[in-house]
Amino acid sequence: RLLIIDFGSQVTQLIARRLRELNVYCEIHPFNKVTDAFLTEFAPKAVIFSGGPASVFADGAPMPPQSVFDLGVPILGICYGQQVMMHVLGGKVERGHGTAEFGRAFVTPVEKLDLLDGWFLTEREQVWMSHGDHVSAIAPGFAVYGTSPNAPFAITADVKRHFYAVQFHPEVHHTPNGARLYENFVRIAGFSGDWTMSAYREQAIAAIREQVGDKQVICGLSGGVDSSVAAVLIHEAIGDQLTCVFVDHGLLRQGEAEEVVTMFRDHYQMPLIHADEKELFLGKLDGVSDPETKRKIIGGLFIDVFQKYANGIEGAEFLAQGTLYPDVIESVSFSGGPSVTIKSHHNVGGLPEKMGLKLVEPLRELFKDEVRALGAELGLPPSFIGRHPFPGPGLAIRCPGEITREKLDILRKADAVFIDQIRKHGLYDDIWQAFVAILPVRTVGVMGDGRTYDFACALRAVTSVDGMTADYYPFTHDFLGETATRIINEVQGINRVTYDITSKPPGTIEWE
Ligand code: XMP
Repeated sequence: RLLIIDFGSQVTQLIARRLRELNVYCEIHPFNKVTDAFLTEFAPKAVIFSGGPASVFADGAPMPPQSVFDLGVPILGICYGQQVMMHVLGGKVERGHGTAEFGRAFVTPVEKLDLLDGWFLTEREQVWMSHGDHVSAIAPGFAVYGTSPNAPFAITADVKRHFYAVQFHPEVHHTPNGARLYENFVRIAGFSGDWTMSAYREQAIAAIREQVGDKQVICGLSGGVDSSVAAVLIHEAIGDQLTCVFVDHGLLRQGEAEEVVTMFRDHYQMPLIHADEKELFLGKLDGVSDPETKRKIIGGLFIDVFQKYANGIEGAEFLAQGTLYPDVIESVSFSGGPSVTIKSHHNVGGLPEKMGLKLVEPLRELFKDEVRALGAELGLPPSFIGRHPFPGPGLAIRCPGEITREKLDILRKADAVFIDQIRKHGLYDDIWQAFVAILPVRTVGVMGDGRTYDFACALRAVTSVDGMTADYYPFTHDFLGETATRIINEVQGINRVTYDITSKPPGTIEWE
């Protein structure tokens, strides 16, 4: 495996993405966790130093342990990573003073280098630079292989030791041929690129068996992709030692509970507890309209309910969770400072300690799209794997103001029509998330010869990569018109449809 030492670059995760695309297994670890002991234990086959915002001159500048250079494995330093290598190995780095460079630059070749196979097929390569300090003298053993007007040491290497150091960022889009450098680097390091989903599946199954032994595992199944893939994988590993708990809080979409129960209980034959707790949740939410209060009530009840059912499972020692890699990576933060709570997210954090359970997290090493690939590998239906995300608090946060059963019923029907429209027009997979929110106002309309006084609703559909930022989806007017007509005709209780064209930021995806 390959070790990426993170010095705090905004784009460190992209390095991991590029390597995973090459079927090479890698992990990102923050520089301050990488000690001599860590290196011995991890035993990397190659190491990459990420970029970072610091200066090697700063007090306490982030540095790797000296021993990393004695491992005898190839090292690639990127941007700040290059400066670190030069600084430590006897070269020279100088402060900016007019040589800072941000943005596109062009590198021309100086000499042939194994790292550069497939580069310089044309005269020059476009690269992305982002640095304040720069290397002014290279370390002994190094030579220059590529240069740009502002970065004479754009590509350097000590070929004997297989140490490579570049000033630019090969992992970003703006270095169009950057993936080739990673491909060459992993080839030089002797990776065969055999880290595939089927290999991962085998490896994960063996690890789960080893961790769990003959003990019982419980898994909170939400019907989302992550918990579903985790459950199927664990079930494949330990069969009926796994029991899933599916909490139905009465805030699910149309047909959702039946779908989940049928699939997991009937199709996969998993022991599944269908905790029908609609009355409890809706009762406690009665009359509540403040968004944070709603979230707190649902989160708290969810934990209580889960615990109640879990307590009934004899000998349960483990709790399975669909934690993903982006949740695990410890980010290197230089800015510090408290961040504001925009919304308190719904999860079962804290539950394992409270219940004395150990965690099984078989997706900890995967990115979202890799989880989908693993789901496909495990035979989950494509329509299930490709489902839009659905928030833990469910329809509660799509029903601003007080939640009533009447409103929830109307909302479910309108939402089903909207999703049906999107599927019929072949747009589902182009959209990150789509849903209807029912508004806490009634408006006047006219249908046939009569006056109506019904609820208004808002359609929401966004594109996004990770849910952190989002753009509204540019439906055609025809699509919107047809959808509005269908909702008003088919859903009793709604007489007005609007389309939410707010991006995130300043809006959020959900309405609460
Ligand atoms: P916002 O509304 O914050 O949503 O822009 C970003 C993404 O997160 C989902 N979301 C949640 N998911 N528990 C979840 O599991 C929650 O409490 C929660 N709140 C929002 C939302 O659906 C969107 O995909």
